[in-house]
Amino acid sequence: MSLPGNRITGNGTSITENDLWLLSFYRSSEINGALFFGRIARTIRGPLQIDVTHHFSDEANHANWWTQCIDGLDHLPIKLGRSYQDRYLDAIGVPANLMEVMAITQVFEKRVIAQYRQHLRMPATHPAVRETIEKIMIDERWHVAYVNQALKEMGDKYGADRISETLARFDAADKDIYAETLAEYGERAEFLAEQSEIRSQR
Ligand SMILES: [Fe+2]
Ligand SMILES: [Fe+2]
Repeated sequence: MSLPGNRITGNGTSITENDLWLLSFYRSSEINGALFFGRIARTIRGPLQIDVTHHFSDEANHANWWTQCIDGLDHLPIKLGRSYQDRYLDAIGVPANLMEVMAITQVFEKRVIAQYRQHLRMPATHPAVRETIEKIMIDERWHVAYVNQALKEMGDKYGADRISETLARFDAADKDIYAETLAEYGERAEFLAEQSEIRSQR
């Protein structure tokens, strides 16, 4: 299966216009992740400082790898409007404390992993794209793991119930934002809609 859209060629390789849109969407999303964690890394104190700074550097690396991947396919990233993360901040407001930062991160990282995993299931995925996703997934798995652990350890300070309630609230916001993104991008986001269907059938 391949993505819909006109096929565009460059440098002996060929991807569709919608493929290029999706890779540009990934790149932009990773850049915004890096900017978000860069701000947190600048101010955070305490034991999470090391992990959050590492996280910031990973997301910047991912943006770099997507940029190189797109360049290797002989294309330029497409300019995109508001990012997925901007929509999060609009929907839930700026996180009020470190627990909220970790909670929104957990919801978002799970979304990212599901998205990349779904992309890897597509047999027609270009080898360069596959290689980039596989490389990124190693880091994304660690992000979910350390954030999960951090949230568990915050139970004493914030209360397990409050943490679960926050996660549920952010999860609901994530579903709304996803639906909004699908509606806005139409055909471009058909691939995302397929993922959404698979998730709702689980
Ligand atoms: Fe990433
Ligand atoms: Fe990540």
